[in-house]
Amino acid sequence: MWEISQIVDIFRTKTVEQSIRDTEAPEHQLRKRLTATDLTVFGIGVIVGTGIFVLTGQVAKETAGPAVAVSFVVAGIVCALAALCYAEFASTIPVAGSAYTFSFATLGEFPAWVIGWDLILELALAAAVVAVGWSGYFASLLSTFGLNLPPSIAGADPVVNVPAIAIVALLTAVLVAGIKLSSRVNLILVITKVAVVLLVIVAGLFFIKSANYTPFIPEAVPTARVEGLEAPLFQVLFGITPVAFGVIGIFSAAAIVFFAFIGFDIVATAAEETVDPQRDVPRGIIGSLVICTILYVAVSLVVVGMQHYTQLSTDAPLSGAFTAVGQPWLASIIGVGAIAGLTTVVLVLLMGQTRVLFAMCRDGLLPRPLAKVHPRFGTPARLTMLIGVVTMALAGFVSFGELAELVNIGTLFAFVVVSIGVVVLRRTRPDLPRAFKTPLVPVLPALSVLACLYLMLNLPVQTWLRFLIWMVIGVVLYFGYGYWHSRTATPWQQARH
Ligand code: ALA
Repeated sequence: MWEISQIVDIFRTKTVEQSIRDTEAPEHQLRKRLTATDLTVFGIGVIVGTGIFVLTGQVAKETAGPAVAVSFVVAGIVCALAALCYAEFASTIPVAGSAYTFSFATLGEFPAWVIGWDLILELALAAAVVAVGWSGYFASLLSTFGLNLPPSIAGADPVVNVPAIAIVALLTAVLVAGIKLSSRVNLILVITKVAVVLLVIVAGLFFIKSANYTPFIPEAVPTARVEGLEAPLFQVLFGITPVAFGVIGIFSAAAIVFFAFIGFDIVATAAEETVDPQRDVPRGIIGSLVICTILYVAVSLVVVGMQHYTQLSTDAPLSGAFTAVGQPWLASIIGVGAIAGLTTVVLVLLMGQTRVLFAMCRDGLLPRPLAKVHPRFGTPARLTMLIGVVTMALAGFVSFGELAELVNIGTLFAFVVVSIGVVVLRRTRPDLPRAFKTPLVPVLPALSVLACLYLMLNLPVQTWLRFLIWMVIGVVLYFGYGYWHSRTATPWQQARH
């Protein structure tokens, strides 16, 4: 039987000082090379992706109309609240692992494990989902050159998604070879992507028809009530029929385009490899978020101005709008930009995943030998390869669709925990030096929690169930392994296993 002391034990915390000391052990030391600019580039690298290149059209057409730009602002505000909490944490505990490390220092080992496990949904799963999206763009670009890949290896429902596996394999190799190299490859791809986004904005301005903006907020219409597991949780809880468009539509759309912002938090996972993390990590997080919000609002305003929202393409709305105004060559350039854009998203998601699992292995919650740093490359090579193989299997063989919503719920959950953690750490460790302080504590973190919960309620019941199942698996693993092997476990606990 478990005794009270053992149960209390699962909330054992690892002190901030211990977390920082652990990063100094030579065999687990990552190289410190990144600057604020590198971090901002990493941030933009992972943020601008499927969200802007694909979701904009879908959401404008089905949920928000031209007011999709307002939805981007709403989602951006929700993220900004969480970002301010992340920034304080990252400047106080500059250690690989992001939300996982922050929770270990504040809420305790078990909540930290839960978050680390949850982050796999945000990172590895999202990397696989975006790799599948990459494969779609890649196949369509090849087909414009007359090269059609067989449907069994690419396209809507392949047996094995070969391009998706190939891109994950290539990016895994880049990550094993070294973080600085990854950041250079990333830089080139991010420049391409941002150039294409700017091209959309500037070139698009010439094709805007003001008539397309009316009505800016189309009148609300009830959507066919989605029953059962597909229904958003709030509908089931409160018996509400969801509407599309109108003011409510703007908020429902915000829950979907939230996906477009996922990634700024990943900047915090690179804190340990940053030369001056206290100063640069908050700059990297907030800088990339602000730049992306501006780009999203501008792109969405231009696209809905170019083409009536009812006519937008749901697969490739940006290139679609240019094709619609008779500029197919611009549409192809945008296709290339989308491929570059999605490549960087997969790269940074994979990097974030290795860093979170690295921290978990180092703490003994997962097998420690996995976290060995390669002597020559200075990266956690074994772990990177392991994650690469798992992501390749997911991307190659699993058809995702609605699983992407799991990414949203996993991320929002992490935001909630981090926002609570900021308040807890202020109480438990007021003495710690905080290079960056979240303003208006505890009001701002409380608003952040409420805003994230609101978006989570907009996700389908099915997503909640999958999320809960994933979490139960994590809890079983913790009590079967992590609890006994943790470096914070007592010698008695360690001896029993
Ligand atoms: N924010 C990333 C994207 O939109 C995940 O693809």
